[in-house]
Amino acid sequence: MDWENLGFGYIKTPYRYVSEYKDGLWNGGILTDDDKVVISECAGVLQYAQTIFEGLKAYTTQDGRIVTFRPDLNAERMIDSARRLEIPEFPKERFLDAVDKVVKANKSFVPPYGSGASLYLRPFIFGSSAVLGVKPAKEYQFRIFATPVGPYFKGGIKPLTLRVSDFDRAAPHGTGHIKAGLNYAMSLHAIADAHEYGFDENLYPDPATRTYVEETGGANFIFVTKDDKIVTPKSDSILPSVTRRSLCYVAEKYLGLKVEHRPIKLSEIENFAECGLCGTAAIISPVGKINDHGKEILFPSGMNEMGKITKKLYETLTGIQTGKIQAPKGWIREIF
Ligand code: PLP
Ligand code: COI
Repeated sequence: MDWENLGFGYIKTPYRYVSEYKDGLWNGGILTDDDKVVISECAGVLQYAQTIFEGLKAYTTQDGRIVTFRPDLNAERMIDSARRLEIPEFPKERFLDAVDKVVKANKSFVPPYGSGASLYLRPFIFGSSAVLGVKPAKEYQFRIFATPVGPYFKGGIKPLTLRVSDFDRAAPHGTGHIKAGLNYAMSLHAIADAHEYGFDENLYPDPATRTYVEETGGANFIFVTKDDKIVTPKSDSILPSVTRRSLCYVAEKYLGLKVEHRPIKLSEIENFAECGLCGTAAIISPVGKINDHGKEILFPSGMNEMGKITKKLYETLTGIQTGKIQAPKGWIREIF
């Protein structure tokens, strides 16, 4: 495997975990080498998009251990997602155990320390039994597969160019705060359109007033002020990113920076010194430029490298994830 040059794509690994829900119960769950799913043509997931997912990573540490980063938060967020989509909850302890099992079973696919790559884990649950009237399915599958990945955005840490989208991704009181497949289906045309016009991603403003910054299709925003304060958007229709929550803690407790989590007006962004996209897949990807309907906002950090604070955040977070820097208690789950 050419670990250094991996992109963010699916590579089939030997084992995945499956547990089935039937008659009101999740069954024991197994590891299988069968990557195919056989379900009814009328399954809830196929007809009414009843599906939720998570994303987390396993890393090789500097001293050769294999660990995951805050998987408990993914387990909890998946329970929130399940409740919103009338999907039965998958218990937290079982989620954690299943993640461990999948990493162990695919051990040789965990990229080595220093390669910049990691093993991406994708837990998901979908309605597998037939429904014709609009209602929740009676049967479900919980699965986790693993795939080795490199950077989410082509070009690694080259600053991105975004545009302010005219398409909406989430609505007030909708599903933006959970990880439902339907949110991503909603963003497919918008991302294809953005790419066609030469942009890397969309900045989705709040759909009600179009005056506040929400997030992108797959990451939260993090801004840095000219006096080195971290500011992140607050909204009920944004996904509560594990990475963003961790970065805010790191900024305050490790780097001694002030952190604000508050609504951010679109009209404010031209005053920031740095901008980044954060998420499990994105890690922190620097943003160089945002185009708001022809008006270009160029961050002082420029189009060639990460801003100074973004870089510090990136190094501290990845340092914690790979065991180079002491992690806060409970952040690292050692698998072996
Ligand atoms: N926002 C969206 C819409 C996402 O899909 C993701 C990815 O999971 C994130 C933010 C980042 O969340 P996390 O840091 O928990 O991966
Ligand atoms: C993740 O960061 O885990 C995500 O699910 C984002 C997705 C766009 C790949």
